[in-house]
Amino acid sequence: MNKRILSIALASLMLVPVAGVAQKSQPTMKDVLGKYFLIGAAVNVNTVWNRDAKAAEVVKKNFNSIVAENCMKGEEIHPEENVYDWKDADQTVKFGEENGLTVIGHCLVWHSQAPKWMFVDKEGKTVSREVLIDRMYHHITEVVGRYKGRIKGWDVINEAFNDDGTYRETPYYKIIGPEYFELAFKFAHAADPDAELYYNDYSMSKPEKREAVCRLVRNLKAKGCRIDAVGMQSHNGLDYPDLTDYENSIKALAKEGVKVQFTELDLNMLPNPQNFGGAEISQHANYMKKMDPYKKGLTKNAQKQFNERYLAFFKIYKKYAKDIERVTIWGVDDGTSWLNDWPIPGRTNYGLLIDRNYQVKPVVKDIIKLFE
Ligand code: XIL
Repeated sequence: MNKRILSIALASLMLVPVAGVAQKSQPTMKDVLGKYFLIGAAVNVNTVWNRDAKAAEVVKKNFNSIVAENCMKGEEIHPEENVYDWKDADQTVKFGEENGLTVIGHCLVWHSQAPKWMFVDKEGKTVSREVLIDRMYHHITEVVGRYKGRIKGWDVINEAFNDDGTYRETPYYKIIGPEYFELAFKFAHAADPDAELYYNDYSMSKPEKREAVCRLVRNLKAKGCRIDAVGMQSHNGLDYPDLTDYENSIKALAKEGVKVQFTELDLNMLPNPQNFGGAEISQHANYMKKMDPYKKGLTKNAQKQFNERYLAFFKIYKKYAKDIERVTIWGVDDGTSWLNDWPIPGRTNYGLLIDRNYQVKPVVKDIIKLFE
């Protein structure tokens, strides 16, 4: 073998393993965390219609579950009495099925983003208890029935308690009374007996709210209703919730015999307006430059805090994995996250695990390591 051939042979020997390593793709969250619980993202209509093709790709690669960010909510899917708009919801379910993603339904009974007509008659007067029960029945039966066997589980009721554990005075509560909980769960179960049924809320680590939701689980079970899991939304910040309180809620819910889900996980990196708390979508404050400090990117220190905080949450998810059914990030990438516009519009936030260029953030590697 002459010298030239020898050096080519040696070089190619050295290249083979290098090329081999380069080609082997890194495991993603669904590959590793997926062995413990579902790991999902809330998707918007641009993703499921592939108008945002990069978002669609990133979802398929990193997650094994989806939930509709908006298009299955009352005001979107049921804009008028007896008029349903199925287009986007149908496409969401199709997108999930075609890509092997477990589809979750959000949400059937919620006072926000509710159909405006639901609570009033043609003259604009509040409807009677009987009428609202009937409307709720039809809404739940039609929506759940349409996707029977195709949606793993539904957020039946969303955000029905105040942070102090009292009943939130929603139109459902005021018109029907507390019996609406039981009715909604029964209607949903009748429409798809195999679907799992969930209660979902924010600020779930507050002790009074935790107590109220545990009581709800007991009451529903005592009345013979199916309830499989409780969703702790987890719209978190750097200094809330308190992690011990958060863990205590997981423990308390697991003790009630339901699974725990983290249904709307994100991490607000921006300063909050005064009196801000929870994830009340009606909270708004005006834009101010000083409330939007990271227009050009997080500082090193903020980046470090982001990483540490996300890792702290995922450490908890690992610790309680046997009680956890699902972790869903509320959105796909930072560019389209609702945190850019809530509670202050027009800001630049960094709350998710995928950045504005659809790149998986460095912390994800460390999260994956935790579970390997
Ligand atoms: C948010 C969506 O992300 C926004 O696009 C929409 O404008 C308002 O609602 N709790 C919930 C979610 O249960 O449905 C909310 O989603 C966020 C708070």
